[in-house]
Amino acid sequence: MLKIIAATDYNSQSRKAAAVIAAEVTLNSKACLGLATGSSPIGLYKQLIAWHKQGDLDFSGITAANLDEYVGLDAAHEQSYKYFMKTNLFDSINIDQKNCYIPNGLAKDDEGKRYDDVIAALGGVDLQLLGLGLNGHIGFNEPDSCFAKGTHLVELTASTIEANARFFASRSDVPTQAYTMGIKTIMAAKKILLIANGDAKAQILYDALFGEITPNVPASILQLHPDVTVVADDCALKIIKEKGLL
Ligand code: F6R
Repeated sequence: MLKIIAATDYNSQSRKAAAVIAAEVTLNSKACLGLATGSSPIGLYKQLIAWHKQGDLDFSGITAANLDEYVGLDAAHEQSYKYFMKTNLFDSINIDQKNCYIPNGLAKDDEGKRYDDVIAALGGVDLQLLGLGLNGHIGFNEPDSCFAKGTHLVELTASTIEANARFFASRSDVPTQAYTMGIKTIMAAKKILLIANGDAKAQILYDALFGEITPNVPASILQLHPDVTVVADDCALKIIKEKGLL
């Protein structure tokens, strides 16, 4: 089932999406959260931190499994996703960081299988948070990814390298490969929370949720997941609203 929750702007969207995660953490103190990096979840993580500091959210029994990690960056690198998660969330809440998992960007071989085994041993992901790439990617599953893959190594597309270059000193510093949960891993999560904001995401959000289900738009596979909640701002929902689909 697909639920779409509209928000007026990024801050409101962040609070509403944080409320979905807060409900999971409150109802299931041992939940495994699948988490994402990027610009979309930053406001949501700030809200979770605020609720934790107020005493309303306890992460002590929670485990976390992140979607992806760049190849070649160690955990101390400021642009590694491990570092992102520590600075944007984990260091500010009471999660046990031994229970926070992410693919190892320095692993030599079989990292994908090792990571999927870790997720399986955790009992699977209860709620997977996803951002949406401008080209429809989820995790780093770029257009034309195989829907049947678990966690694996990917070559990043030029458009993703371009989009991520803003975080690096220069375009040539952006890693060209990443480990990512595959579509199979993502689809195995019990619940999915997709967030999107801004005009630039309007067309791809429409394509993902209402277009053809095709590897060309990796996020379109989410139409086949039984429990997807989308929290998006009015800018990202523009085309969906214009077409009278919300
Ligand atoms: C991040 C990730 C990516 C981003 C996507 C959107 O862990 O896997 O798929 O969610 O690229 O990025 P932003 O939020 O920066 O627009």
